[in-house]
Amino acid sequence: MKFDTIIEPFRIKAVEPIRRTTRNQRLQALQQAQFNPFLLDAEDVLIDLLTDSGTGAMSAEQWAGMMRGDESYAGSPSFRRFERTVSDITGFRHILPTHQGRAAERILAACAVDDGDIVPNNTHFDTTRANVEATGAEALDLPAEGATDPTVERPFKGNIDLNRLDRVLTEDSHRVPLVFITVTNNSGGGQPVSLANIRAAAELCHSHDVPLFLDACRFAENAWFIKQREQGYGNHSPAGVAREMFDCADGATMSAKKDGLANIGGFLALNDDELAHRCKNELIRTEGFPTYGGLAGYSLEALAVGLREVLDEDYLRYRARSVAYLGDKLIGAGVPIMRPPGGHAVYLDAAAMLDHIPPLEYPAWALSATLYLEGGIRSVEIGSVMFGMTPDGTEQPAPMELVRLAFPRRVYTQSHVDYLAEVIEYVHSIRHRIRGLQITDAPRVLRHFSAHFEPLGDALVAGDGDE
Ligand code: F0G
Repeated sequence: MKFDTIIEPFRIKAVEPIRRTTRNQRLQALQQAQFNPFLLDAEDVLIDLLTDSGTGAMSAEQWAGMMRGDESYAGSPSFRRFERTVSDITGFRHILPTHQGRAAERILAACAVDDGDIVPNNTHFDTTRANVEATGAEALDLPAEGATDPTVERPFKGNIDLNRLDRVLTEDSHRVPLVFITVTNNSGGGQPVSLANIRAAAELCHSHDVPLFLDACRFAENAWFIKQREQGYGNHSPAGVAREMFDCADGATMSAKKDGLANIGGFLALNDDELAHRCKNELIRTEGFPTYGGLAGYSLEALAVGLREVLDEDYLRYRARSVAYLGDKLIGAGVPIMRPPGGHAVYLDAAAMLDHIPPLEYPAWALSATLYLEGGIRSVEIGSVMFGMTPDGTEQPAPMELVRLAFPRRVYTQSHVDYLAEVIEYVHSIRHRIRGLQITDAPRVLRHFSAHFEPLGDALVAGDGDE
């Protein structure tokens, strides 16, 4: 290529206005939301990086596919198109559509996991953890060494720790009904897992007759990193790499709200006939008939197109670059972030930035709230609020205090990212004035979604008249 600039590989056909607010309006909105960004009205947010899940822009082809959606209860051709796409990409025999990823997790956990079991994962996403723990099993995180140190620069920081996996399987394989690998490792910083690691984990699992499942939400982004970073894959297509990943595994759960490029949807895919039979019955009981699984026919069509579009090289190159572009700017400005930048998000290292706030005064939560207050940016805490509550009801600091800035797919452009960098650099410059918070009300499980907070002291940002 003669020119270096990586452009958004699309033009814009429909636009949505975003609304500017004043700092005072945002302060009021934050107070009304009990300082919980999940409780803000989306209309009060300027740039919404709460999640990359279900927030992407669909293509003209996907909208066209939606018109073709066939809403037959049973045997819909839309299901066949969806099924063919998923089976082409993954190679799995049984494809069960679900309304989103956590439904696939719940069905798999209900059919395969028992009280007293252990389910290892490189790092469980919060719903996966909750679904495993709801059966009475232990959700065991086995991140590779260095994964929880934001300053360690490694190509595959999402890898599962093979030595610890080996130990669990050797000592307790009768208690391990399945092993998960999450690609990319969302809770660990959006970091990829290498094919060598997936393959070695699969060999370990299979030598103990334990199936390996991929939590495949961001499989295409993971495949792109393998193509870029793992020796021997530079000339492979993203689809070819993705297929090699799936070929190592016995099944997958998928939130298609991420790399399905759709606003809703998911699936459970697996090879084991007997387990698939039980999962299908559970699907019928809780989601819907196996040819729609809780989705409209038009959503199955959007997924059938999106799952192919996501493997396009120009798209993946732009996708990875737009996240790294923000990461590079922040690193250049001395803002501590999880390194290297992840596939779907930049993660700010709040423990390093706000080292005056102890973990159980929630530095990452405070940083996330401040980004909203100062710049109208919504992000999500991945720290001691999300992961600090143990099943027995005691609090302990999470391994990291991160603020995730997750990029919706095909939604924001480079000038949005320039604005983000400006706001974050400003917040970094006033970091010493940011205060911690306390929780005033929270449920025991998945508390980050609905907890109420108040700043410790008079204001979230001291000394500027918040009070
Ligand atoms: N697994 C991972 C790795 C995820 O990131 C998510 C969702 C799920 C499972 C559950 O999928 O939302 O479709 O039920 N992650 C979103 C996020 C919510 O913001 O990271 P779901």
